[in-house]
Amino acid sequence: MTEKLLSTVKIERNGDGIAWVYINRPEKRNAMSPQVHRDMSEAFDELELDDDVKIVVIAGEGGVFSAGQDLKETFRGLENDPAERFRQEQRYGKWRWERLWNFPKVTIAMVDGWCVGGAFTHFIACDFAITSDEAQYSLSEVNWGIIPGGMVSKAVVEAMGYRAGLYYCMTGERFDGARAVELGLANFAVPSAELKARTQAFAEEMMKKNQNVVVATKQVYRAIKRGMDFDQSFDYMSAKFTQLKATDSNRGYDTGLSAFVDEKSYRPAHDPYPMSTAE
Ligand code: COA
Repeated sequence: MTEKLLSTVKIERNGDGIAWVYINRPEKRNAMSPQVHRDMSEAFDELELDDDVKIVVIAGEGGVFSAGQDLKETFRGLENDPAERFRQEQRYGKWRWERLWNFPKVTIAMVDGWCVGGAFTHFIACDFAITSDEAQYSLSEVNWGIIPGGMVSKAVVEAMGYRAGLYYCMTGERFDGARAVELGLANFAVPSAELKARTQAFAEEMMKKNQNVVVATKQVYRAIKRGMDFDQSFDYMSAKFTQLKATDSNRGYDTGLSAFVDEKSYRPAHDPYPMSTAE
């Protein structure tokens, strides 16, 4: 295993294509200080260019995903400098929303312990989320005098239904991992003691797939979700399909088709992933 330590972020690579990125401030419940944002930006710059990494798991050291923005360093620290605060917020938003949302590799949020406020942004920006049953979620902003700002409300609107999203934003009420699955925020919930192993198992299943196709699939899904009508969606999907066939170094389309049609050795719809309980 190789381990890279930035001052507030730890990256583990085990040579199996999966990188584990931990926010590493457990004594502050992995609250995101300006340094965390800088380190996460650096981590994703590096992981994007690391050809040996196919899948990135984001988690928090010490059994806590993240207590959100650092209230002391980020809020109190920039209280009297709204212009700098605005600039910082844009910078903080970048790695989580632009970067992670568009990341050209599979991303998984592994949530244990607390996931609060600003942590919803990178939690939701990941492609998949696996939670412990015991994890605790709260859009706590309303409890201390602010709105779920930055990108939090936008992320919640993207991921939750109208009634539930508004409810949790307006009440700040806590919910657990099982409820996160019910709400469609997480794909499945497992006991905390099994979280790492189950996440590893899921990542290994995803590793078996053609990564070019998986990434193109998420790009299409997200582009459509951001706002395209039927005609635009059809055009975009046709163009993406053509692009993928031309650029897929694994030639997944040709090999998959001949395995089914000619060799009769494969049935794509016969192999549902056994662990997922997601709808
Ligand atoms: N910003 C800055 N510091 C934070 C923090 C945050 N978001 N969340 C926790 N910490 C710090 C605490 O101040 C404390 O620091 P100290 O040891 O120097 O006093 C340390 O982390 C441990 O926190 P503590 O509250 O004792 O831990 P806990 O396990 O009992 O509770 C939480 C954990 C997450 C429930 C609680 O810390 C909390 O409510 N944090 C605020 C979360 C929040 O509202 N975030 C929204 C930001 S957008």
